[in-house]
Amino acid sequence: MPTLGVNIDHIATIRQARRTVEPDPIAGAVLAELGGADGITVHLREDRRHIQERDVRLLRQIVRTHLNLEMAATDEMVAIALDIKPDYVTLVPERREEVTTEGGLDVAGQINRIGEVVDQLQSADIPVSLFIDAESAQIEASRTLQAKFIELHTGRYAEAKNETSRQQELDLLAAGCEQAIKAGLRINAGHGLTYWNVHPVACLPGMEELNIGHTIISRAVLVGMERAVQEMKLAMRGNQ
Ligand code: PXP
Repeated sequence: MPTLGVNIDHIATIRQARRTVEPDPIAGAVLAELGGADGITVHLREDRRHIQERDVRLLRQIVRTHLNLEMAATDEMVAIALDIKPDYVTLVPERREEVTTEGGLDVAGQINRIGEVVDQLQSADIPVSLFIDAESAQIEASRTLQAKFIELHTGRYAEAKNETSRQQELDLLAAGCEQAIKAGLRINAGHGLTYWNVHPVACLPGMEELNIGHTIISRAVLVGMERAVQEMKLAMRGNQ
């Protein structure tokens, strides 16, 4: 079975909705690790819509498992990564107007720029993972750049409208895994995975780590609701 990297961005999304101090993603990371998370993942976006630089710096100090920093291949982000030194970096495409990361990184189409960033990070002992669609040209380009990992984008699989297209997307992911294994690349996957669709992806050959966020934070909000309301009733009576 692969390991689980818990993406805690959306704890920060709730905090940023009020520009306040709660809920703190740092506390969320500690609790995720207590629950068995094998890694903590955050995406520091250019627009800082959820995770802040302060979060990444504190996570670097408190994470006991490993810290995966998702980021765009920009000079600003490379400088931050070289300074904070996460356990690995996942390079993702980023557009300001998107709700979440859409599509994989076009490694084949930007081979020089992505190659520069892979070299800068890996020569500082920060392994790089490239978040790509399970397409032959992207896997081949990732091999050429000697990235340590690829992260296969599972969004199309997750969004498939029926069983036939879900199976087709799963077959593409499986073919991608086989090509990546032959190329000597280590394999992660993520995006859009839920409690209902995760199992077949977890069973793909060579799969090392799944990075999962939204569905876990969504469930945490709901499973914590009864207790949170009970605790507010106590606080109203002066018991915090
Ligand atoms: N992997 C990558 C590269 C991502 O960009 C994201 C979303 O931030 C995830 C995994 C997690 O996706 P989700 O929140 O849909 O589980």
